[in-house]
Amino acid sequence: MKKRYLLIAALLSLTLVYPASNYFTSSDEVVSPYIPMTKADKLEVAFASWSEGHESNGGDHNVVMSLGWSKGLSDELTYAKGKAKLDLIEGFVEVEVEDLDDVGISEVWLVDNLNDSSVLPEPEDNFLHVGTLTAEGDRGTLRADVGNAFGTFEVDLLIVSRAGQDPVQSRVLVGSSSLMQRLYTRARSGRLAIGSEDPGGLSAAFGALGTQPVFASDLVPSFDPLIEQGADLFFNETFAGNGRTCGTCHPAEHNFTIDPEFIATLPDDDPLFVAEFVPALMSNFEKPELMRNVGLILENTDGFGDLANRFTMRSVPHTLALGNALTPGADGTTTPPDQRTGWSGDGAPGSGTLREFAIGAVTQHFPQTLNRTPNVDFRLPTDAELDAMEAFQLFLGRQDELDLSTLTLKNAVAARGQEVFVAADTVGGTVAAGKCNTCHFNAGANFSLTGGFENRNFNTGVEALPDQPADLIDPANNPPDGGFGQAPNPNGGFGDGSFNTPVIVEAADTGPFFHNNAIETVEGAVAFYNSDAFNNSPIGQFLASVDTGGIGIDLETTQVVAIGAFLRVINALENNRSATETATFVKDVDDFATANSLLELAFAEVEDAIGVLDGGGLHPKAVKDLKAAQISLEIAAITGIPFFRDLFIDIAVDFIADADADMV
Ligand code: HEC
Ligand code: HEC
Repeated sequence: MKKRYLLIAALLSLTLVYPASNYFTSSDEVVSPYIPMTKADKLEVAFASWSEGHESNGGDHNVVMSLGWSKGLSDELTYAKGKAKLDLIEGFVEVEVEDLDDVGISEVWLVDNLNDSSVLPEPEDNFLHVGTLTAEGDRGTLRADVGNAFGTFEVDLLIVSRAGQDPVQSRVLVGSSSLMQRLYTRARSGRLAIGSEDPGGLSAAFGALGTQPVFASDLVPSFDPLIEQGADLFFNETFAGNGRTCGTCHPAEHNFTIDPEFIATLPDDDPLFVAEFVPALMSNFEKPELMRNVGLILENTDGFGDLANRFTMRSVPHTLALGNALTPGADGTTTPPDQRTGWSGDGAPGSGTLREFAIGAVTQHFPQTLNRTPNVDFRLPTDAELDAMEAFQLFLGRQDELDLSTLTLKNAVAARGQEVFVAADTVGGTVAAGKCNTCHFNAGANFSLTGGFENRNFNTGVEALPDQPADLIDPANNPPDGGFGQAPNPNGGFGDGSFNTPVIVEAADTGPFFHNNAIETVEGAVAFYNSDAFNNSPIGQFLASVDTGGIGIDLETTQVVAIGAFLRVINALENNRSATETATFVKDVDDFATANSLLELAFAEVEDAIGVLDGGGLHPKAVKDLKAAQISLEIAAITGIPFFRDLFIDIAVDFIADADADMV
């Protein structure tokens, strides 16, 4: 212990002469570091467990994909939706569409994107006409035998077109699969070496497969090349649009989200601000006042048909720990989406998968003009690019859930906060019950009453809050947000009023909070659950009706602060886990610049941990250790000699472990 302090003291003088900021590259270079950081086997583990679940449901005999309107691919708006079931081994396709308001929407097609210039169907692609829907009322159905077509045909899209038209001419409903499904099927059918559809040599990782096995769970691929490609696309690819990248709004150095403070550091010509300087984007693309002051982004979640009136203003969620927050609950609202994305849980177009999210994001945020014509105003990603971006996003952040039943915090206030967070009933009004764990199981995004695997939507009344910052600043440009779905809402906007439960381990350092950035501080976000807005909401009323004391959520101020302390400490622990992972990885990196940008990311994580602890007056000893860890990381970045760099990384990691030991 003493020795480490001596070492630090000796080199402290160095850092005084050379402030760290000189050694950490500027933020435009934080792009590369993720590229080599892919050896953690994170997705291999996720793939293995996905495959296991898939096989217990019948494997590729039973591939289900939802069908829906696709922002980006559909060429007309529809509220019809449906499901397709594919038996990729026996060659059967079943399609069922509901809410069909027009019998002209009838031709079912499968698309194999051979010419992978974009995910959009082009004449050179391979099309399989499965058949025509039989309409009965507002339902359309089809069951067809496609023989052994799937032996050579990769299903990139399922499209329902207008009668007599092919997918190049007409696209109304669209469906496709997730990355895991796609890789699984490729592995099973030995079809990995499909030229451009095989980014980064996945086929080499799988090896050549002679036979066509029914199951593919043993064939776990290496995801590294795919993640590397995805990182590069996420931070650098503009898709021939207005200059934005995914990283414009989801920057690595700011926890993959933006807020007014971060926005204020950007130069005026940053592509985030295109609506301020590109004439074609000056009206109905963003609301600059709300972007600059509240960090809100304009979303046309209900279509591009009426740009002046049909839009919502939403905050930017981080994209961390996504893999833990995608599985929808069986609440009857998931045909589509197949996965829960975005604040309303239906952010992705088509089948509603994380993979397709990028199609919608490019169409929404990247166009040069509001015509949003693909191949003119931007280009859509290719199938291979969609795969890579999904892999990168799944890779980000925590892969595992916390286990609150075994977590023992040392700080008495945070530990009490954890108790109140978990308590689910007031027991006749005598127990302080936050009931948070019911929806945020283990401080994640899943519903505990069904086992903790379902990411559910609720109407918690955030929209009903009076005096929201956006309403005070620019009410004319902040229409009501109806949340999930497209049906007109009696309270204004479009949707059923529900929003999707986010993960909250990562919350304390990614405020402001909620889909509209209505609340600035984490304690304020906890206190929201005491409000009339919450307790009068549908789910607030429901919680009161099943409570033995008839109470929804009612916490004293000390208990609000205690839950805040709990959220701060688990956030700091996650920062430390991530900083340790990143810093340790640097020991395998030869390139000086790459090593330094990674160390900068680790430094930023530690900075966040310090910030969330300090902000709650928590764990001064841990904060001291974390500051020492930062100095060690700075010194590691300064020294060009790998031996010393690694030594100081070890010291930093030790200090972080000391900080953890102060907390748990
Ligand atoms: C102009 C800012 C902006 C850009 C650029 C942007 N996003 Fe987003 N992103 C948002 C906003 C706002 C939301 C919330 C949308 C919603 O609620 O449906 C969001 C949500 C998301 C989500 C959902 C996260 C969750 O927790 O469910 C994902 C995934 C995502 N974005 C990925 C991307 C990708 C991939 C790109 C690049 C192709 C991208 N974003 C580009 C602003 C942006
Ligand atoms: C009935 C389900 C439910 C309960 C109970 C619940 N939450 Fe939430 N939580 C949600 C939903 C849904 C959202 C998103 C709401 C929105 O943005 O409109 C959310 C959002 C949040 C956020 C904002 C996250 C962010 O990144 O902006 C925090 C923090 C939070 N909840 C903490 C808590 C705490 C603490 C409790 C207990 C006092 C709690 N929640 C109880 C469903 C719930």
